[in-house]
Amino acid sequence: MTHIREFVWPDYDNVAALWIATGRDVLTRAELTAKLTRDPQLFLVAEVDQTLAGVVLGTYDGRRGMILRLAVAPEHRRRGLASLLVAELEKRFAALDCPRVNLLVLPEDTSALRFWQALGYLPQPDVLCTKPMGVTPSR
Ligand SMILES: CC(C)(COP(=O)(O)OP(=O)(O)OC[C@H]1O[C@@H](n2cnc3c(N)ncnc32)[C@H](O)[C@@H]1OP(=O)(O)O)[C@@H](O)C(=O)NCCC(=O)NCCS
Repeated sequence: MTHIREFVWPDYDNVAALWIATGRDVLTRAELTAKLTRDPQLFLVAEVDQTLAGVVLGTYDGRRGMILRLAVAPEHRRRGLASLLVAELEKRFAALDCPRVNLLVLPEDTSALRFWQALGYLPQPDVLCTKPMGVTPSR
C-alpha cells in the first residue's frame, strides 16, 4: 500500500540513503532542522508497504514555492509515485496561497525533464546565477 506523509526524524537515514542512491546531494540534519522550523508540511516521503520509496522537499519563501530533492527508488519507478508526491506537495503549496512553483533540472537530464513536463512544469530560458556567502551554518 502506498502512503504519502510528512517527514519525521526517524526517516532521516533512509531519506539520506535514497538521495545518495539517486545521485542527489544530502541535506545535513542541521540544514533540515533549519528548514523544518519554516515549513515542515512541505517535506514529504512516500512509503510502499511501509518501506520508504520516495521523497520530495518543498520550500516556500512567501512568494514562490521551490521543489528540491525529488527521488524515487529505482525499483518503485514508473508507478506514479513521484507524481503522487508532487500532487500532494502542490496541494500544500496551494493551501499556503503560493502562486508559482519553480525547480531546477540539469539540461542533460532528459528523464527528469520529461517527468516534469508531463506534470506541466515547463523550461524557462533564465540562467541560474549564484554566489556563496562564505558562511558556514552554525546550527
Ligand atoms: C524522475 C523520477 C523522480 C520519476 O519518478 P517516478 O515515480 O518514476 O515518476 P512517475 O511514475 O510519477 O512518472 C510520471 C510520468 O513522468 C514521465 N516520466 C517519468 N520518468 C520518466 C523517464 N525516466 N523517462 C521519460 N519519462 C518519464 C512519464 O510521462 C510518466 O508517466 P508514465 O509512466 O505513465 O509514462 C525518478 O525517475 C527519479 O527518482 N530519478 C532520479 C532522481 C531525479 O532525477 N530527480 C528529479 C531531478 S529534478
